[in-house]
Amino acid sequence: MEFEHIPRWMMSSSVDKTKMYVNLEQSMNYAKHRPRYTQELFQTVIDYCRKTNPNLDIAVDVGCGPGMSTIGFGPFFRRVIGIDISMTQIACAPTNVPRCEFYVGDSDQLPYIASGIVDLFCSGQSFHLLPQKETFAEADRLLRPGGTIAIFGYEMPSTDNPQINAILQNMWLTMIPYWPQESTQLFEKFANLEMPYPDWERNDSLELTMSVNTEKFMGFLRSTWPVVAYTRDHPREDLIGDIAKQIREALANTGSGDQNFNIHYNFFIIMGHKPRN
Ligand SMILES: C[S@@+](CC[C@H](N)C(=O)[O-])C[C@H]1O[C@@H](n2cnc3c(N)ncnc32)[C@H](O)[C@@H]1O
Repeated sequence: MEFEHIPRWMMSSSVDKTKMYVNLEQSMNYAKHRPRYTQELFQTVIDYCRKTNPNLDIAVDVGCGPGMSTIGFGPFFRRVIGIDISMTQIACAPTNVPRCEFYVGDSDQLPYIASGIVDLFCSGQSFHLLPQKETFAEADRLLRPGGTIAIFGYEMPSTDNPQINAILQNMWLTMIPYWPQESTQLFEKFANLEMPYPDWERNDSLELTMSVNTEKFMGFLRSTWPVVAYTRDHPREDLIGDIAKQIREALANTGSGDQNFNIHYNFFIIMGHKPRN
């Protein structure tokens, strides 16, 4: 779903991005309903890492949330370290994925990781929320020469039902004041991001299609920040209940009943190699 035309000034400039995920119920919902990255996405990043560095040892995933951007790297490294500023997000990360470990911390202050030992430093669906200049500087300290920095994520999903898309478009527009201004970078898939290294590339070709029912999709909507913030400010409204009703009506209009429908995520990946000298 494209939001490139949303004026930045209408969006919120006052969201404390370090405190967006402070509620256990919200983090549990995030863990349950946010999409998983595909094997293809993890493999694309790994193939890029191996171009300059065949032996992969340590990966660091900042803004890891409950770990969906972290665990897919487990099979490729000796250690994969997920870092998130939110205790509740880390509390919802899995504890049983081999070689993956999770800690509460800041993306730009990782003094407990030694310099020059990291092969992959990544950020999934989080870089717009991070202190970017400082996080790039910390990545540069941690990465070994030839190591990879990778920023990846996805746009808000669309469906293959035009009526549902119109309902969603309308809902997101109502919520413009609740989007942090930094989300424009996500909407633009970081088109203007200045990577710190001259050797970098982007891949916008990967997608994920999921079949969901209305209830499952409402779980995803509830996991988004604008819905969390809007609901907090309008406790008497049943925003998600109303959207669910509209979607069920749209499905009934197209003769689908309350059946599953497809939602599509478009992924972006931006990857760069730290120079060897
Ligand atoms: C939208 S979630 C992304 C989670 C996960 N990586 C994913 O792909 O779904 C963004 C995460 O960034 C975390 N975050 C925000 N500011 C941070 C910071 N300065 N350092 C580390 N994590 C931060 C938030 O707590 C949140 O869990």
